[in-house]
Amino acid sequence: MNQLEIKVRDTQSFLEARDLEAYRQQVPHILSKLEDKRNDPSEFLGWLNLPEKTTEKYLEDIQQTARSFSKNLDTVLVIGIGGSYLGAKAVIEALSPYFSTSPSSREILFAGQNIDEDYHYELRELLENREYGIVVISKSGTTTEPGIAFRIFKQHLEQKVGAGEAAQRIIAVTDKEKGALRKLADEQGYQTYVIPDDIGGRYSVLTPVGLVPIAMAGFNLKQLLEGAEAMRKRTTSSVAFKDNPAARYAVMRNALYSKGKAIEILGTYQPRLYYFMEWWKQLYGESEGKDHKGIFPSIAQFTTDLHSMGQYIQEGRRILFETILSVEESNHQLSVPKVSDNTDNLNYLAGKRMHQVNAMAEKGTRLAHSDGDVPNMTLCIPRIDEYNLGQLIYFFEKACAISGYILGVNPFSQPGVEAYKTNMFGLLGKPGYEKESQRLTEKLRKSKK
Ligand code: PA5
Repeated sequence: MNQLEIKVRDTQSFLEARDLEAYRQQVPHILSKLEDKRNDPSEFLGWLNLPEKTTEKYLEDIQQTARSFSKNLDTVLVIGIGGSYLGAKAVIEALSPYFSTSPSSREILFAGQNIDEDYHYELRELLENREYGIVVISKSGTTTEPGIAFRIFKQHLEQKVGAGEAAQRIIAVTDKEKGALRKLADEQGYQTYVIPDDIGGRYSVLTPVGLVPIAMAGFNLKQLLEGAEAMRKRTTSSVAFKDNPAARYAVMRNALYSKGKAIEILGTYQPRLYYFMEWWKQLYGESEGKDHKGIFPSIAQFTTDLHSMGQYIQEGRRILFETILSVEESNHQLSVPKVSDNTDNLNYLAGKRMHQVNAMAEKGTRLAHSDGDVPNMTLCIPRIDEYNLGQLIYFFEKACAISGYILGVNPFSQPGVEAYKTNMFGLLGKPGYEKESQRLTEKLRKSKK
């Protein structure tokens, strides 16, 4: 197997052909609509042809920048949140060794993805003894969390190495002309990369938003984009439904949703895919959760979570379906040892590879969950590498767009995320938010009574 396969098993008892048909019939129209509108900037469809449009020269330019930028650094600090954080984090975590074995390997650290004081204080302490540079990423250039973090670490870096050297150690990834970060970058002479106007945060991992940090970590951008391009070709309007994995996944999840399966659990047996699932969670949650509808995306890390959430999945409310990210090959080999006393009764596993044991846990769980009325699909990739992650990224993006349109929402907007910001600004006394401040103070006073 060299490409992503989607296995839809054990759904016969949950769905009949006619449950899928109405959704399936919408797919050609949706795909044509996406393709017809891809050049209209107001549709936010710039991601659709990105793998095809991104040139090798452009990728080499980013890799070259990453090499020279990080040559004398032991740490690169990436500052960003949401769509300006999760894609890079997902790919870097998936491709990095669990435990760094080389003392000289460069560490990629993240800031501004939360506003926890202790996190940022302790990070600043750590960076005191590091040779570091900063990649600050914000499309709007005005997001509070990365804005605060950038203030802290810009100041720290300037105090540590001087303002002139600090400016050489900062790269900004932002809008081509708008926003506070663009203004500052131009004033200070930072090197910059542009986030295209027609690509929203959660679809931006294959733009410099993801590519610059991924290159800093030393991974191969060309293979990542090749994987995405292979998937783009497999999911266009000219491909038959049965051969289009993104369309099949989108249709299946909507059909399950219509049967009351309102929560999708994306699960994996490979912990290094944890942040990949987090990236997926944002993509689907922010794209579909609107107008009081949408499948609730949740994630599970197996077998770990079978010892915590396994009970609920097996026997709790029957509103779940599962999608498992399955990986055929592991990177290393490690077998279960034989021991003479066998007090733990595990000798029946002696000589078996851990990957085999994991695979049987995956199979057994799938069957048990299916018997427990939790339908499941499996997305299989041969191994975790740049090419296969590129395939998966594009697969999920395309499927999300199709799925959102089937559901009847705009998968490229996120009006709901403003509500918390308005409240936070009101409570923090941001100029222009005086009315909110008054309203919230009153509300808090009443709730204390
Ligand atoms: O998907 C989105 O639009 C959000 O998650 C944004 O990416 C996130 O809020 C960060 O925004 P910005 O890049 O403007 O700082």
